[in-house]
Amino acid sequence: MTATALFDLSNGRVRPELLAQVADEVAFVETELSKQLHSQVQMVKDVSHHTLDAGGKRLRPAFVALSAKATGLAYNEERSRKIGACMEMIHMATLIHDDVIDNSATRRGKETASAVYGNTGSILAGDVLLAKAMRILAEDGDLAIIKTTSESVVEMAEGEVRELETRLNFDLDIEEHLEILRLKTASFIQCCCEAGGLVAGASPEICQALREYGHHVGMAFQIVDDLLDYRGDKAKTGKPVATDFREGQATLPLIYLREKLSEQEASVARQKFGAGVTDDEIRMISGWMATRDAYKHAEELAIEHVEKALAALALLPETPSRDLLETVAHYVVRREL
Ligand code: IPE
Ligand code: IPE
Ligand code: MG
Ligand code: MG
Repeated sequence: MTATALFDLSNGRVRPELLAQVADEVAFVETELSKQLHSQVQMVKDVSHHTLDAGGKRLRPAFVALSAKATGLAYNEERSRKIGACMEMIHMATLIHDDVIDNSATRRGKETASAVYGNTGSILAGDVLLAKAMRILAEDGDLAIIKTTSESVVEMAEGEVRELETRLNFDLDIEEHLEILRLKTASFIQCCCEAGGLVAGASPEICQALREYGHHVGMAFQIVDDLLDYRGDKAKTGKPVATDFREGQATLPLIYLREKLSEQEASVARQKFGAGVTDDEIRMISGWMATRDAYKHAEELAIEHVEKALAALALLPETPSRDLLETVAHYVVRREL
């Protein structure tokens, strides 16, 4: 995947010139990111570039740009690109930290920063990225953007901590799980969409609609991410299969499967959860998820969120960019990476 691969919306109903516009925006963000990643400290530079150069969908800067455009207002594109870069830097930092927490060796089809440079250096380089992102916000000076972003970074970190606290809990409650998804993923996508609205100087009502859109797209995004963890193609996702089960992290496919297992099956699954499960056992468990509708139910919940995201867009003026936000919401459930 190239650094500006973006995500493949081309099989939707998106007009090519519109797609080209988003790709252009993301390319500008890419240039800004390269500038931002300079550091006098070699390890910081190495970890940052390792993560940036591995690619990624650049979905968060795309949300900033698309949301700004979808307001239909004239706005300063230079600012939106800087804010987009800031959001991608925050995202990069959270991925670097997340791979330490999840003990993940692969991301974006490459070795993770922690696998190459070690946990300590990666955590510190992630902190540098976060601080640089905050500097961009301070230079931009929009207090509303600073506020929503800092709130969201707090929620993301708290979500990761809460998730860690639930590790090895085979019986994790669904409501608690969904709240963790809101905190660790939906909150930040919501923030990126709202930031786009704020850059464009949109009204509080429009900003609220963008927040709602972002929240629901974010929920769907993480539910699908957790589905891909079990049934995704490693060659496409660039991440190892069934990390969640191996690490003892209950997600929707397991939560829905639980109610469909016999006592004996549940006892096997419980025993293997986060405790040295073999590839064959993973295949057996994911086979159950497929045949007993656990995947289907998770997918249905993701689709419900997409529908709510689309409903939130009704408040925005009818523009091609609004259509594109719609397409992105559909893409989130169709995606394979
Ligand atoms: C991964 O996000 C982290 C989650 C919130 C699931 P992405 O799937 O957007 O990661 P990249 O940036 O494309 O690698
Ligand atoms: C992604 O969480 C990190 C954040 C949302 C902060 P996960 O651990 O669920 O996602 P992947 O699969 O590693 O990208
Ligand atoms: Mg994680
Ligand atoms: Mg992870």
